[in-house]
Amino acid sequence: MEFLLQPGGSVQGTMRVPGDKSISHRSIMLGAIAEGVTEISGFLEGEDALSTLNAFRAMGVVIDGPRDGNVRVHGVGLHGLKAPQGPLDMGNSGTSMRLLSGLIAGQSFSATLIGDESLSKRPMERVAKPLRLMGAVIETQEGGRPPLVIKGRGQLKGIHYDLPMASAQVKSCLLLAGLYAEGETSVTEPAPTRDHTERMLGGFGYAVERRGNATVAVKNGGKLSATKIDVPADISSATFFMVAAAIAPGSDLTLTHVGINPTRIGVINILKLMGSDLTVFNEREVGGEPVADIRVRYAPLHGIEIPDAQVPLAIDEFPALFIAAACAEGKTVLRGAEELRVKESDRIQVMADGLHTLGIEARPTPDGIEIVGGKLGGGVIQSHHDHRIAMSFAIAALRASAPIRIEKCDNVATSFPNFVELAKNAGLYIEVAR
Ligand code: S3P
Repeated sequence: MEFLLQPGGSVQGTMRVPGDKSISHRSIMLGAIAEGVTEISGFLEGEDALSTLNAFRAMGVVIDGPRDGNVRVHGVGLHGLKAPQGPLDMGNSGTSMRLLSGLIAGQSFSATLIGDESLSKRPMERVAKPLRLMGAVIETQEGGRPPLVIKGRGQLKGIHYDLPMASAQVKSCLLLAGLYAEGETSVTEPAPTRDHTERMLGGFGYAVERRGNATVAVKNGGKLSATKIDVPADISSATFFMVAAAIAPGSDLTLTHVGINPTRIGVINILKLMGSDLTVFNEREVGGEPVADIRVRYAPLHGIEIPDAQVPLAIDEFPALFIAAACAEGKTVLRGAEELRVKESDRIQVMADGLHTLGIEARPTPDGIEIVGGKLGGGVIQSHHDHRIAMSFAIAALRASAPIRIEKCDNVATSFPNFVELAKNAGLYIEVAR
């Protein structure tokens, strides 16, 4: 699938983007190992969250839906999962593979986790290594890549682990393994990362201890009780439209019911630092997660040095933020973001290549990029099957002087299935070609 964009336009109106991907994954995982029926609304019906859902069905969990974002998970309790008949296919989803590896390491059965071409290139030793320290038997393939073969023996022991990188996926993997490990499992992170697992475990009635702002611990022996989960709109999906309104003259757009968990709001902070006219209002709490409406009106942006502390808080938003930087006056510098090189694609190189195609000066560095704002032309962009690259260059068209064609956009459905429809409604000139 390709996106074809005509240049120009602005974005207007009010919209609600689909449910948060991270929270949707976790709602299925924790619902499955809880006791009782968990009712989820606002669930993201994207391919990534569906990979998680199908994996639990394959492990014997009865799940009704999704239907209009509603899902009912008939929990089997911590020890009720069954051995899957074949390999569990995680598709494009790193979150499914990394979190499930921890959960499955605690079972007394074995499973093989496989993924698509992009996921099959992503590093898995970051979870395999600490899980082995907990006593798990896990094989990765050459270079520490998937498939992951996990031989569950039901006898993990708790450890303390200092995360070598700021990764919510590794932290969550170990906390899930910790539910099954003898004694205490604790994790210290080098910088705050998304804390949806910790919050949601609390929501299911499982004790999680936070020590200071860097360490979190769980003990085995508890149980999860089914609950209701209202998934907020995904700030990572909202980002494309926040940036769209920020760069396109005449824009005035409101995004409703957006999750504004403090570990996810780097994009808001960075856009404001760049001079964006962005207001967060109607703040409230929904099921343990803060939610708000966000209004963005066009205002000229200027380049900045992105503060280090914002990097993990905006890790998925950088492709779109690079488009904002390309439309800003002056230079934007990002450092300390080497994790971007191991996402669904090498997002530093792939974004730099695309920006070059559009005539923007972008200099990749090992751990970041320098982008000099300028005039965007048109051209053909390679998305490398990366959903966020595809959507970022789609919004770039608002400021381009010629058409943009973006190749290999199928994976947009992993996180944002109705992107094209919402983009058209908001004012982008976007068509799909197959
Ligand atoms: C996620 C954590 C982040 C993020 C990913 C979702 C999660 O990855 O990039 O899209 O749901 O825990 P890392 O933890 O590897 O940085």
